[in-house]
Amino acid sequence: MPVPVRSFAKINIGLAIGAPRPDGFHELRTIYQTIAAHDVIRVDVKSGTGIEVRCKTPGVPEDESNTCYRVADRVLRTIKQRGKVTISIEKNLPVQGGIGGGSSNAVATMFALERALRIEIPAAEKLRIASEVGSDLPLFLLGGTVLGCGRGEEVYPVQDLPEFPCVLVTPDKAVSTPQAFRDWDEQFGAELTRNGSSATINTFSRSVFEWLGGTSSGVPVKNGDRAETLLLDLVRTGIANDFERVVFPQHPELRDVKRVLERHGASYASLSGSGSSLYGLFRTSEAAESCAAALSRDGVKAIATTTLPRENYREQMFFGR
Ligand code: C5P
Repeated sequence: MPVPVRSFAKINIGLAIGAPRPDGFHELRTIYQTIAAHDVIRVDVKSGTGIEVRCKTPGVPEDESNTCYRVADRVLRTIKQRGKVTISIEKNLPVQGGIGGGSSNAVATMFALERALRIEIPAAEKLRIASEVGSDLPLFLLGGTVLGCGRGEEVYPVQDLPEFPCVLVTPDKAVSTPQAFRDWDEQFGAELTRNGSSATINTFSRSVFEWLGGTSSGVPVKNGDRAETLLLDLVRTGIANDFERVVFPQHPELRDVKRVLERHGASYASLSGSGSSLYGLFRTSEAAESCAAALSRDGVKAIATTTLPRENYREQMFFGR
């Protein structure tokens, strides 16, 4: 029987781009937050050899370049087991949308393989495999609210934001992440990165310190008002996604969507990753639903969902167990 796993998306609450590194990646800082919108991955292992990826959605490769394939291949090598692995991807999330769909699918494959093979891959090995395959994979090993450093692959669970109503907007537009980084370098790199120090990363660090330092009671926040306060504390620090500065001028309609989210009362609205997805965090699910409905009436793809705290991420990943 195939093992089904929910593969949740992420949003970025603030993202600071630093200097390009000798390995070609950029130093960055971000807060990742998992959300309830998801794909479903089904992994089946039979006797034999080989890895097969199946996905009906255009734009998703079914060959060895697929992130799920790459993870499965590494897992089999690491545990030195053979098997005929079939990975089926039921896609709801946009491809290249800035919400980590492909990365999440790959980590879900790793969790499904552990169940299917009845093994537990040591945490350090899981992290190694995930970060080899992509910068945005390791966050999905944790879920919830996660601080991302390095090229995004160095992840730390931080004080979890409680569940918030969220509108996720997924315009029919793919933004190339490497191109967005190149555009950033051309337009802002020299100005903001001097003597190995990055002005945006320094600002981000101060914002996160202000946020966590100011609310570091360590007490889990459940009550609605306090939840709102925790988010507003973060928003007040002025945390922002640097990619907006290169992506919005190229795609002004995305800036317009952010304004619509704000006009509908979002406590915080932003581009996610390098886009093209955007999101708004709302106080009530009614406000989120009415905003998503208004955007949909205007022909913009939008759904009302929620953020997904770490505990829920872990509980809801597997079906009925
Ligand atoms: O790690 P991932 O495969 O998601 O990265 C895709 C591309 O995005 C990299 O090859 C690189 O060009 C760019 N990137 C970057 N700095 C990062 C993450 C990604 O320049 N921190």
